[in-house]
Amino acid sequence: MSTTVVQTKIYDDQKPGTSGLRKSVKIFQQEHYTENFIQAILDALDDKLTGCTLVVGGDGRYYGKDAVSKIIKIAAANGVGKLIIGQNGILSTPAVSTIIRKYKTLGGIVLTASHNPGGPNADFGIKFNCENGGPAPDKVTNKIYDITKSLKFYKIASDINVDIEKIQSNNIKVDGRTFVVDIIDPVEDYVIFMKKIFDFDSIKKLLQGSAERPKFQILIDSLNGVTGPYVKRIFGVELGVDDASLIHSTPLEDFGGLHPDPNLTYAADLVNTVRNGTHDMGAAFDGDGDRNMIIGKKAFFVTPSDSLAVLAAHLRIIPYFQETGIKGYARSMPTGTAIDRVAKSVGAQCMEVPTGWKYFGNLMDIDRLSLCGEESFGTGSDHIREKDGIWACLAWLNIIAKLGKSIEDILKDHWIKYGRNFYTRYDYENCDATDANKVMAEVESKIQEASFISTKFDSGNKQYIVKYADNYSFKDPVDGSIATKQGLRILFEDGSRIIYRLSGTGSSGATIRLYVESYESDSSTFDKDAQVMLKPLVNIALELSKLQEYTGRNAPTVIT
Ligand code: G6P
Ligand code: ZN
Repeated sequence: MSTTVVQTKIYDDQKPGTSGLRKSVKIFQQEHYTENFIQAILDALDDKLTGCTLVVGGDGRYYGKDAVSKIIKIAAANGVGKLIIGQNGILSTPAVSTIIRKYKTLGGIVLTASHNPGGPNADFGIKFNCENGGPAPDKVTNKIYDITKSLKFYKIASDINVDIEKIQSNNIKVDGRTFVVDIIDPVEDYVIFMKKIFDFDSIKKLLQGSAERPKFQILIDSLNGVTGPYVKRIFGVELGVDDASLIHSTPLEDFGGLHPDPNLTYAADLVNTVRNGTHDMGAAFDGDGDRNMIIGKKAFFVTPSDSLAVLAAHLRIIPYFQETGIKGYARSMPTGTAIDRVAKSVGAQCMEVPTGWKYFGNLMDIDRLSLCGEESFGTGSDHIREKDGIWACLAWLNIIAKLGKSIEDILKDHWIKYGRNFYTRYDYENCDATDANKVMAEVESKIQEASFISTKFDSGNKQYIVKYADNYSFKDPVDGSIATKQGLRILFEDGSRIIYRLSGTGSSGATIRLYVESYESDSSTFDKDAQVMLKPLVNIALELSKLQEYTGRNAPTVIT
């Protein structure tokens, strides 16, 4: 095999967002487009590139196999020593992180647009993960972007064809060197790791039932994303859950038309089935397997922020944390602050970082972080450097098995002990970008006025007094890097918060996210509906931003 150098043309839109380069498939299919970005990733590895090992895999969405084939050819031509690729190009995002860490590779390329729809008319994405197994930090993605802006050519060994359906090691001679492509079982390493982290025996007893306790009925929805094979192996084979309880578990290139985002709107099938009361728990994961949604009997909804707080409170039940101890907690800025209360009560630190899992990585690498999460249905720990949907589900099951209580009772006990943080998120998807910027500018100009602090807002029968407001920025305590403009936040004296942020994961238009939170210690409120409780704050948020006026939207597209 020999390599050729292809003169290319520059695309100036290859700036990675919150989580890699995410665009419509049609954009990736443009001549040289995908090749350029792959070449830029490799160039960014500088002198570590020659002879290195990289992991490659994705969520099985449309265009994934084309991208794998291009990566093989371009990696070969650029002197990469070895690629470890999931069979058929399949690897969940948490599995990529697991494999990078286990085999100590230089990093990995993840082919996914996460929770965005898939198919020829939908989205694709390419993300680079570093040797710690986590998404590349800003300084790396900026470097990749800079390279794309001046790229003149890419190198490719076009004749290489590897059968990615077959689990085997391939040795290929390229320009006299040996280039290795290992096609591996996508599930194996991840399953072995989960069995080390959790108490599978007690989870199995819970799911199988025993003389003392009836079978705990679970329904798992993979939304036709990548978790299907992992779920079948872990829950089906290892834990004995029947097939009928594992739904949408074959990865499909277009997710069968589903929007693979595990929330109350897009995982409606699961929610509706669990609502009828036969199941004790429902769980859903997104396209690439890093997000999770947990619901209890009759579809009792656990907000991601509450889920994080409950896991924090019971973390020591899980064998992995008995071994490692609890080093600290963290959440993204818009995530509800319920976990802060747990941290305070157990004397652990809870750090706040901007939206994006990449911000947790450094804290984990210096052993300051055991458990972290985001309101965007992301939960995980320092076992890897990505959030991990199946991990979160197993964590809940491990805790339920030990406490012997229903999900709803676990939540209620939690609120009695710590009080309840009511939380909601409104998404206004696919707005015109100019309109969305006007909304942000409106809020920003208001909160920047010196007189804004101490402003009193009357809404419902409550008064909210502004304590603090800013455009959130974050200085990484490890490398000193600064991330600015990470969301407009208004903090009120009673602990309530309103946050406005533009999504960084969309592929077209702009999505405005409005996050609203309040805290109640009065137990008579705990059973109330979060939407009712938060309405006064939501009204303040809408008026202040003139959101309806600027966008013409009377209602959000998704409410969580
Ligand atoms: C991805 C990242 C998450 C982040 C989320 C934010 O899923 O992996 O860490 O929380 O994007 O999405 P947004 O659309 O709000 O920018
Ligand atoms: Zn995802």
